Amino acid sequence: MIILIGGEKGGTGKTTIATNLAAMRALTGRDVLLIDTDPQGSANYWAQSRDELEIMPRVACVQKFGKGLPAEVKDLAKRYQDIIIDAGGRDSVELRSAMVVAHKAYVPIQPSQFDIWTLNQMDELVETAKGFNPDLQARVIISRSSTNPSVHESDDTVEILNDFPSLSLASTGIKDRIAYRKAASGGLGVSELKPKDAKAVEEMDALYKEVFGDE
Ligand SMILES: Nc1ncnc2c1ncn2[C@@H]1O[C@H](COP(=O)(O)OP(=O)(O)O)[C@@H](O)[C@H]1O
Ligand SMILES: [Mg+2]
Repeated sequence: MIILIGGEKGGTGKTTIATNLAAMRALTGRDVLLIDTDPQGSANYWAQSRDELEIMPRVACVQKFGKGLPAEVKDLAKRYQDIIIDAGGRDSVELRSAMVVAHKAYVPIQPSQFDIWTLNQMDELVETAKGFNPDLQARVIISRSSTNPSVHESDDTVEILNDFPSLSLASTGIKDRIAYRKAASGGLGVSELKPKDAKAVEEMDALYKEVFGDE
């Protein structure tokens, strides 16, 4: 399966979600490739730290840039069971071209920066991509939301999404938790982090199931 974690805004948790899903997928014994198309290279850096720290299973990662991406991804899909693409940057050629080959696209959005402009752009990108890739499913993940129960910043999200025909809301949201930062700095996913943050593991597990289903 080819999964895209993408979006135009930085800091929304794209790399965090992509690396966690990749680690979990690798832990089930699948041959997974992480493709980092963001010039910042954080996913690649994460995979390198994982290698340096000799964390098993290994997660293969390559950096790819430019509009040749769809052909390369299709080729790589013959050699890997799953591909997870981490694509950032404003209206980048990589983001657009990854949408042409992905089966599912997830767009993490922070509730605090939940702006209509970003969603509008993403909705249009998905709409265009569907011209080439009619089966593309695109979902918004509310990411880095507050763990404080008195903060209700994500409540209006479902309603706002009704205005965007190509985007729907993922069933799982990801909260802002220190465990994600700790795991990232050690080349890990939260499911591998000790001591374990049960709530982080639980929500990432739910997202994993939503993304990969029974496959
Ligand atoms: N759910 C989360 N909880 C806590 N920190 C997070 C979470 N998601 C991301 N971060 C932190 O926020 C920063 C940006 O996250 P990152 O995944 O790199 O975003 P993006 O790839 O969208 O730019 C990083 O320092 C990361 O560790
Ligand atoms: Mg990133």
